[in-house]
Amino acid sequence: MSRFWSDHIHELVPYVPGEQPKQQLLKLNTNEHAYGPSPRVFAAIAAKNNDDLRLYPPYEASALLSAIAKKHNVATDQVFLGNGSDEVLAHVFNTLFLREGRPLLLPDITYSFYKTYCAFFKVPAEVIPLAEDFTIRVEDYTREREVAPAAIIFANPNAPTGIALALDDIAHIAQANPDSAVVVDEAYVDFGADSAVALIAQHPNIVVIHTLSKSYALAGLRVGYAVASAEIVAGLQRVKDSFNSYPLDTLAQAGAVAAIEDQAYFDEKRFAIMQSRDKLTKDLQQLGFEVLPSKTNFVFARHADHEAQQLHQGLRDRHILVRHFQQPRIEQFLRITVGTPEQCAKLIAALREILNA
Ligand SMILES: Cc1ncc(COP(=O)(O)O)c(C=O)c1O
Repeated sequence: MSRFWSDHIHELVPYVPGEQPKQQLLKLNTNEHAYGPSPRVFAAIAAKNNDDLRLYPPYEASALLSAIAKKHNVATDQVFLGNGSDEVLAHVFNTLFLREGRPLLLPDITYSFYKTYCAFFKVPAEVIPLAEDFTIRVEDYTREREVAPAAIIFANPNAPTGIALALDDIAHIAQANPDSAVVVDEAYVDFGADSAVALIAQHPNIVVIHTLSKSYALAGLRVGYAVASAEIVAGLQRVKDSFNSYPLDTLAQAGAVAAIEDQAYFDEKRFAIMQSRDKLTKDLQQLGFEVLPSKTNFVFARHADHEAQQLHQGLRDRHILVRHFQQPRIEQFLRITVGTPEQCAKLIAALREILNA
Protein backbone atom coordinates (compact mmCIF):
# COMPACT_ATOMS: atom_id res chain seq x y z
CA MET A 1 0.00 0.00 0.00
CA SER A 2 1.17 3.52 -0.72
CA ARG A 3 -0.17 7.01 -0.13
CA PHE A 4 0.73 7.77 -3.76
CA TRP A 5 -1.62 5.18 -5.27
CA SER A 6 -4.98 6.07 -6.80
CA ASP A 7 -7.84 5.36 -4.40
CA HIS A 8 -9.21 2.27 -6.10
CA ILE A 9 -5.83 0.47 -6.23
CA HIS A 10 -6.03 -0.25 -2.50
CA GLU A 11 -9.11 -2.44 -2.99
CA LEU A 12 -7.86 -4.50 -5.96
CA VAL A 13 -7.51 -8.26 -5.55
CA PRO A 14 -5.23 -9.20 -8.46
CA TYR A 15 -5.42 -12.55 -10.26
CA VAL A 16 -2.80 -15.01 -9.03
CA PRO A 17 -1.31 -16.98 -11.95
CA GLY A 18 0.11 -20.49 -11.55
CA GLU A 19 3.68 -20.59 -10.29
CA GLN A 20 6.54 -20.20 -12.79
CA PRO A 21 9.28 -21.97 -10.81
CA LYS A 22 12.95 -20.94 -10.97
CA GLN A 23 14.26 -24.46 -10.34
CA GLN A 24 13.85 -27.45 -12.66
CA LEU A 25 10.40 -28.87 -11.94
CA LEU A 26 8.11 -30.88 -14.18
CA LYS A 27 5.62 -28.12 -14.86
CA LEU A 28 2.08 -29.45 -15.15
CA ASN A 29 0.40 -26.47 -13.47
CA THR A 30 -0.45 -23.81 -16.09
CA ASN A 31 -1.78 -25.77 -19.07
CA GLU A 32 1.04 -24.89 -21.39
CA HIS A 33 1.47 -27.07 -24.49
CA ALA A 34 3.44 -30.30 -23.99
CA TYR A 35 5.50 -29.69 -27.13
CA GLY A 36 7.05 -26.58 -28.69
CA PRO A 37 5.50 -24.42 -31.41
CA SER A 38 5.77 -25.20 -35.12
CA PRO A 39 9.35 -24.81 -36.45
CA ARG A 40 7.88 -22.36 -38.95
CA VAL A 41 7.30 -19.94 -36.05
CA PHE A 42 11.03 -19.70 -35.34
CA ALA A 43 11.81 -19.01 -39.01
CA ALA A 44 9.11 -16.32 -39.24
CA ILE A 45 10.33 -14.55 -36.11
CA ALA A 46 13.97 -14.77 -37.27
CA ALA A 47 13.00 -13.17 -40.58
CA LYS A 48 11.62 -10.13 -38.71
CA ASN A 49 14.50 -9.88 -36.27
CA ASN A 50 16.24 -6.99 -37.99
CA ASP A 51 16.55 -3.18 -38.14
CA ASP A 52 12.88 -2.85 -38.96
CA LEU A 53 12.20 -3.40 -35.27
CA ARG A 54 12.77 0.36 -34.95
CA LEU A 55 9.40 0.76 -36.69
CA TYR A 56 6.04 0.40 -34.98
CA PRO A 57 4.35 -2.90 -35.74
CA PRO A 58 1.76 -3.01 -38.53
CA TYR A 59 -1.21 -1.20 -36.94
CA GLU A 60 -3.83 -3.19 -38.84
CA ALA A 61 -2.02 -6.52 -38.29
CA SER A 62 -3.71 -7.47 -41.55
CA ALA A 63 -1.67 -10.64 -42.21
CA LEU A 64 -2.70 -12.04 -38.83
CA LEU A 65 -6.31 -10.89 -39.19
CA SER A 66 -6.48 -12.62 -42.58
CA ALA A 67 -4.97 -15.86 -41.25
CA ILE A 68 -7.49 -15.96 -38.36
CA ALA A 69 -10.43 -14.97 -40.58
CA LYS A 70 -9.51 -17.73 -43.04
CA LYS A 71 -9.17 -20.33 -40.29
CA HIS A 72 -12.65 -19.54 -38.95
CA ASN A 73 -14.28 -18.67 -42.25
CA VAL A 74 -15.33 -15.17 -41.13
CA ALA A 75 -14.60 -11.65 -42.43
CA THR A 76 -11.51 -9.79 -41.15
CA ASP A 77 -13.73 -7.13 -39.56
CA GLN A 78 -15.10 -9.86 -37.31
CA VAL A 79 -11.71 -10.46 -35.67
CA PHE A 80 -10.26 -8.50 -32.76
CA LEU A 81 -6.65 -9.02 -31.61
CA GLY A 82 -5.06 -8.62 -28.22
CA ASN A 83 -1.92 -9.23 -26.20
CA GLY A 84 -3.05 -12.64 -24.98
CA SER A 85 -6.70 -13.49 -24.46
CA ASP A 86 -6.55 -12.01 -20.96
CA GLU A 87 -6.19 -8.60 -22.60
CA VAL A 88 -8.96 -9.38 -25.08
CA LEU A 89 -11.16 -10.32 -22.11
CA ALA A 90 -10.33 -7.02 -20.37
CA HIS A 91 -11.54 -5.09 -23.41
CA VAL A 92 -14.63 -7.30 -23.62
CA PHE A 93 -15.50 -6.53 -19.98
CA ASN A 94 -15.03 -2.81 -20.57
CA THR A 95 -16.89 -2.72 -23.90
CA LEU A 96 -19.84 -5.05 -23.30
CA PHE A 97 -20.48 -5.60 -19.60
CA LEU A 98 -21.12 -2.11 -18.16
CA ARG A 99 -24.79 -1.61 -18.98
CA GLU A 100 -26.88 0.34 -16.47
CA GLY A 101 -26.26 -1.98 -13.57
CA ARG A 102 -27.49 -5.05 -15.41
CA PRO A 103 -25.60 -8.08 -14.07
CA LEU A 104 -23.05 -10.30 -15.73
CA LEU A 105 -23.97 -13.97 -15.29
CA LEU A 106 -21.11 -16.40 -14.75
CA PRO A 107 -20.61 -19.85 -13.16
CA ASP A 108 -19.21 -20.19 -9.63
CA ILE A 109 -16.47 -22.48 -10.94
CA THR A 110 -14.82 -21.04 -14.04
CA TYR A 111 -11.71 -19.10 -15.08
CA SER A 112 -10.96 -17.04 -11.99
CA PHE A 113 -9.80 -13.98 -13.93
CA TYR A 114 -13.46 -13.16 -14.69
CA LYS A 115 -14.08 -12.30 -11.04
CA THR A 116 -10.90 -10.21 -10.92
CA TYR A 117 -12.10 -8.20 -13.93
CA CYS A 118 -15.58 -7.80 -12.39
CA ALA A 119 -13.97 -6.11 -9.41
CA PHE A 120 -11.55 -4.09 -11.55
CA PHE A 121 -14.19 -2.77 -13.97
CA LYS A 122 -16.94 -2.64 -11.31
CA VAL A 123 -19.16 -5.01 -13.27
CA PRO A 124 -22.03 -6.31 -11.10
CA ALA A 125 -21.89 -10.11 -11.15
CA GLU A 126 -24.49 -12.79 -10.52
CA VAL A 127 -22.61 -15.98 -9.77
CA ILE A 128 -24.53 -19.13 -10.71
CA PRO A 129 -23.48 -22.47 -9.19
CA LEU A 130 -22.63 -25.28 -11.58
CA ALA A 131 -24.73 -28.45 -11.16
CA GLU A 132 -23.57 -31.14 -8.72
CA ASP A 133 -21.64 -32.88 -11.52
CA PHE A 134 -19.90 -29.58 -12.41
CA THR A 135 -21.80 -29.07 -15.67
CA ILE A 136 -23.43 -25.76 -16.63
CA ARG A 137 -27.20 -25.94 -16.06
CA VAL A 138 -28.52 -24.35 -19.22
CA GLU A 139 -31.90 -23.47 -17.71
CA ASP A 140 -30.17 -21.18 -15.18
CA TYR A 141 -29.16 -18.98 -18.12
CA THR A 142 -32.33 -19.21 -20.20
CA ARG A 143 -35.07 -18.56 -17.65
CA GLU A 144 -36.89 -15.24 -17.74
CA ARG A 145 -35.53 -12.56 -15.43
CA GLU A 146 -36.86 -9.23 -14.27
CA VAL A 147 -33.73 -7.51 -15.57
CA ALA A 148 -32.02 -8.92 -18.63
CA PRO A 149 -28.35 -9.61 -17.93
CA ALA A 150 -25.79 -7.29 -19.52
CA ALA A 151 -23.96 -10.41 -20.61
CA ILE A 152 -23.07 -14.01 -19.86
CA ILE A 153 -19.54 -15.39 -19.76
CA PHE A 154 -18.14 -18.89 -19.33
CA ALA A 155 -15.22 -20.89 -20.61
CA ASN A 156 -16.05 -23.73 -22.99
CA PRO A 157 -14.64 -26.24 -22.30
CA ASN A 158 -14.85 -24.86 -18.79
CA ALA A 159 -11.76 -24.33 -16.67
CA PRO A 160 -10.72 -25.85 -14.40
CA THR A 161 -13.32 -28.61 -14.83
CA GLY A 162 -12.44 -29.43 -18.47
CA ILE A 163 -16.11 -30.17 -19.20
CA ALA A 164 -17.57 -28.94 -22.51
CA LEU A 165 -21.07 -27.63 -23.17
CA ALA A 166 -22.74 -28.69 -26.46
CA LEU A 167 -23.21 -26.09 -29.20
CA ASP A 168 -27.00 -26.57 -29.10
CA ASP A 169 -26.96 -25.48 -25.48
CA ILE A 170 -24.90 -22.39 -26.28
CA ALA A 171 -27.28 -21.52 -29.12
CA HIS A 172 -30.19 -21.91 -26.71
CA ILE A 173 -28.56 -19.54 -24.19
CA ALA A 174 -27.84 -16.98 -26.95
CA GLN A 175 -31.38 -17.21 -28.26
CA ALA A 176 -32.90 -16.72 -24.81
CA ASN A 177 -30.80 -13.57 -24.23
CA PRO A 178 -30.94 -11.66 -27.52
CA ASP A 179 -30.07 -8.32 -25.89
CA SER A 180 -27.07 -9.66 -23.95
CA ALA A 181 -23.59 -10.56 -25.14
CA VAL A 182 -22.83 -14.24 -24.67
CA VAL A 183 -19.07 -14.60 -24.35
CA VAL A 184 -17.61 -18.05 -24.85
CA ASP A 185 -13.96 -18.33 -23.85
CA GLU A 186 -12.58 -21.15 -26.00
CA ALA A 187 -9.01 -21.20 -24.68
CA TYR A 188 -9.04 -25.03 -24.78
CA VAL A 189 -11.56 -25.77 -27.54
CA ASP A 190 -8.97 -27.28 -29.92
CA PHE A 191 -8.49 -30.27 -27.64
CA GLY A 192 -11.81 -31.88 -28.56
CA ALA A 193 -14.77 -29.49 -28.25
CA ASP A 194 -16.78 -27.66 -30.93
CA SER A 195 -16.31 -23.94 -31.56
CA ALA A 196 -19.23 -21.55 -31.16
CA VAL A 197 -17.82 -19.45 -34.02
CA ALA A 198 -20.17 -21.52 -36.18
CA LEU A 199 -23.13 -19.95 -34.31
CA ILE A 200 -22.22 -16.28 -34.76
CA ALA A 201 -23.95 -15.84 -38.13
CA GLN A 202 -27.25 -16.99 -36.55
CA HIS A 203 -26.65 -15.42 -33.13
CA PRO A 204 -24.94 -12.03 -33.45
CA ASN A 205 -24.74 -11.68 -29.64
CA ILE A 206 -22.13 -14.47 -29.39
CA VAL A 207 -18.49 -13.46 -28.83
CA VAL A 208 -15.87 -16.20 -29.01
CA ILE A 209 -12.44 -15.74 -27.42
CA HIS A 210 -9.38 -17.71 -28.53
CA THR A 211 -5.75 -17.84 -27.52
CA LEU A 212 -2.57 -19.10 -29.16
CA SER A 213 -1.19 -19.88 -25.68
CA LYS A 214 -2.53 -23.43 -25.44
CA SER A 215 -3.10 -25.40 -28.65
CA TYR A 216 -0.50 -23.39 -30.64
CA ALA A 217 2.15 -23.62 -27.90
CA LEU A 218 2.74 -19.85 -27.91
CA ALA A 219 1.99 -18.73 -24.35
CA GLY A 220 5.24 -16.73 -24.40
CA LEU A 221 4.25 -14.76 -27.48
CA ARG A 222 0.99 -13.37 -25.98
CA VAL A 223 -1.56 -13.56 -28.78
CA GLY A 224 -5.30 -13.81 -28.27
CA TYR A 225 -8.33 -12.81 -30.28
CA ALA A 226 -12.09 -12.50 -30.33
CA VAL A 227 -14.41 -13.48 -33.17
CA ALA A 228 -17.78 -11.68 -33.17
CA SER A 229 -20.11 -9.59 -35.30
CA ALA A 230 -18.45 -6.60 -37.02
CA GLU A 231 -20.57 -4.34 -34.80
CA ILE A 232 -19.15 -5.81 -31.60
CA VAL A 233 -15.60 -5.82 -32.97
CA ALA A 234 -15.94 -2.11 -33.82
CA GLY A 235 -16.78 -1.43 -30.16
CA LEU A 236 -13.77 -3.43 -28.96
CA GLN A 237 -11.56 -1.56 -31.40
CA ARG A 238 -12.73 1.80 -30.00
CA VAL A 239 -11.76 0.71 -26.49
CA LYS A 240 -8.41 -0.71 -27.59
CA ASP A 241 -7.52 2.46 -29.46
CA SER A 242 -8.29 4.45 -26.33
CA PHE A 243 -5.84 2.31 -24.39
CA ASN A 244 -2.97 0.88 -26.51
CA SER A 245 -3.05 0.98 -30.30
CA TYR A 246 -0.18 -1.51 -30.74
CA PRO A 247 -0.89 -4.45 -28.46
CA LEU A 248 0.82 -7.03 -30.69
CA ASP A 249 4.47 -6.55 -31.49
CA THR A 250 6.03 -7.27 -34.87
CA LEU A 251 7.57 -10.60 -33.81
CA ALA A 252 4.35 -11.81 -32.22
CA GLN A 253 2.37 -11.01 -35.36
CA ALA A 254 4.85 -12.88 -37.57
CA GLY A 255 5.07 -15.91 -35.25
CA ALA A 256 1.30 -16.14 -34.87
CA VAL A 257 0.70 -16.10 -38.64
CA ALA A 258 3.27 -18.87 -39.14
CA ALA A 259 1.70 -20.99 -36.38
CA ILE A 260 -1.81 -20.66 -37.79
CA GLU A 261 -0.64 -21.42 -41.31
CA ASP A 262 1.00 -24.68 -40.18
CA GLN A 263 -2.25 -26.54 -39.53
CA ALA A 264 -0.60 -29.93 -40.13
CA TYR A 265 1.75 -29.42 -37.18
CA PHE A 266 -1.09 -27.97 -35.09
CA ASP A 267 -3.26 -31.03 -35.72
CA GLU A 268 -0.48 -33.55 -35.17
CA LYS A 269 0.41 -32.14 -31.76
CA ARG A 270 -3.09 -31.48 -30.47
CA PHE A 271 -4.16 -35.01 -31.38
CA ALA A 272 -1.07 -36.38 -29.60
CA ILE A 273 -2.03 -34.39 -26.49
CA MET A 274 -5.62 -35.64 -26.66
CA GLN A 275 -4.33 -39.22 -26.81
CA SER A 276 -2.07 -38.62 -23.82
CA ARG A 277 -5.01 -37.09 -21.97
CA ASP A 278 -7.15 -40.14 -22.49
CA LYS A 279 -4.36 -42.46 -21.30
CA LEU A 280 -3.64 -40.21 -18.32
CA THR A 281 -7.34 -40.29 -17.41
CA LYS A 282 -7.37 -44.10 -17.42
CA ASP A 283 -4.14 -44.31 -15.43
CA LEU A 284 -5.49 -41.90 -12.81
CA GLN A 285 -8.74 -43.85 -12.58
CA GLN A 286 -6.74 -47.01 -11.96
CA LEU A 287 -5.07 -45.26 -9.03
CA GLY A 288 -8.53 -44.55 -7.60
CA PHE A 289 -9.03 -40.98 -8.84
CA GLU A 290 -12.33 -39.62 -10.04
CA VAL A 291 -11.52 -37.69 -13.24
CA LEU A 292 -14.00 -35.26 -14.78
CA PRO A 293 -14.53 -35.81 -18.54
CA SER A 294 -12.02 -33.44 -20.12
CA LYS A 295 -12.02 -31.87 -23.57
CA THR A 296 -8.89 -29.84 -22.77
CA ASN A 297 -5.14 -30.30 -22.31
CA PHE A 298 -5.60 -30.82 -18.57
CA VAL A 299 -7.53 -33.14 -16.28
CA PHE A 300 -9.33 -32.29 -13.06
CA ALA A 301 -9.18 -35.16 -10.60
CA ARG A 302 -9.82 -36.00 -6.95
CA HIS A 303 -9.10 -39.01 -4.79
CA ALA A 304 -11.66 -40.29 -2.30
CA ASP A 305 -9.05 -41.22 0.32
CA HIS A 306 -6.36 -38.57 -0.07
CA GLU A 307 -6.38 -34.82 0.56
CA ALA A 308 -5.58 -32.81 -2.57
CA GLN A 309 -3.38 -30.47 -0.55
CA GLN A 310 -1.19 -33.39 0.55
CA LEU A 311 -1.03 -34.89 -2.93
CA HIS A 312 -0.03 -31.48 -4.28
CA GLN A 313 2.77 -31.23 -1.69
CA GLY A 314 3.84 -34.85 -2.24
CA LEU A 315 4.20 -34.18 -5.97
CA ARG A 316 6.09 -30.98 -5.32
CA ASP A 317 8.50 -32.87 -3.07
CA ARG A 318 9.07 -35.10 -6.09
CA HIS A 319 9.69 -32.05 -8.33
CA ILE A 320 6.31 -32.12 -10.06
CA LEU A 321 4.10 -29.05 -10.06
CA VAL A 322 0.31 -29.32 -10.51
CA ARG A 323 -2.41 -26.77 -9.64
CA HIS A 324 -4.49 -26.86 -6.49
CA PHE A 325 -7.25 -24.29 -5.88
CA GLN A 326 -8.24 -23.42 -2.31
CA GLN A 327 -11.79 -22.77 -3.40
CA PRO A 328 -15.09 -24.11 -2.04
CA ARG A 329 -16.43 -27.15 -3.96
CA ILE A 330 -13.12 -27.88 -5.70
CA GLU A 331 -10.58 -27.90 -2.88
CA GLN A 332 -10.22 -31.69 -3.16
CA PHE A 333 -9.31 -31.55 -6.86
CA LEU A 334 -5.96 -31.28 -8.60
CA ARG A 335 -5.70 -29.73 -12.04
CA ILE A 336 -3.03 -31.54 -13.99
CA THR A 337 -1.75 -30.36 -17.37
CA VAL A 338 -1.34 -33.15 -19.90
CA GLY A 339 2.37 -33.54 -20.63
CA THR A 340 4.24 -35.76 -23.05
CA PRO A 341 3.74 -39.54 -22.57
CA GLU A 342 7.03 -39.63 -20.60
CA GLN A 343 5.96 -36.76 -18.35
CA CYS A 344 2.56 -38.36 -17.72
CA ALA A 345 4.29 -41.66 -16.84
CA LYS A 346 6.53 -39.79 -14.37
CA LEU A 347 3.48 -38.17 -12.77
CA ILE A 348 1.67 -41.50 -12.43
CA ALA A 349 4.74 -43.16 -10.91
CA ALA A 350 5.06 -40.32 -8.37
CA LEU A 351 1.36 -40.51 -7.46
CA ARG A 352 1.58 -44.28 -7.05
CA GLU A 353 4.49 -43.81 -4.66
CA ILE A 354 2.57 -41.17 -2.65
CA LEU A 355 -0.62 -43.25 -2.47
CA ASN A 356 1.30 -46.33 -1.34
CA ALA A 357 3.35 -44.48 1.28
C1 LIG B 1 -10.04 -20.23 -19.70
C2 LIG B 1 -8.88 -19.35 -19.97
N1 LIG B 1 -9.07 -18.21 -20.64
C3 LIG B 1 -8.05 -17.38 -20.92
C4 LIG B 1 -6.77 -17.65 -20.50
C5 LIG B 1 -5.69 -16.66 -20.78
O1 LIG B 1 -4.85 -17.05 -21.81
P1 LIG B 1 -3.82 -16.06 -22.49
O2 LIG B 1 -3.90 -14.72 -21.80
O3 LIG B 1 -2.49 -16.72 -22.32
O4 LIG B 1 -4.23 -15.97 -23.92
C6 LIG B 1 -6.51 -18.83 -19.80
C7 LIG B 1 -5.14 -19.14 -19.34
O5 LIG B 1 -4.86 -20.04 -18.62
C8 LIG B 1 -7.59 -19.70 -19.52
O6 LIG B 1 -7.41 -20.83 -18.83
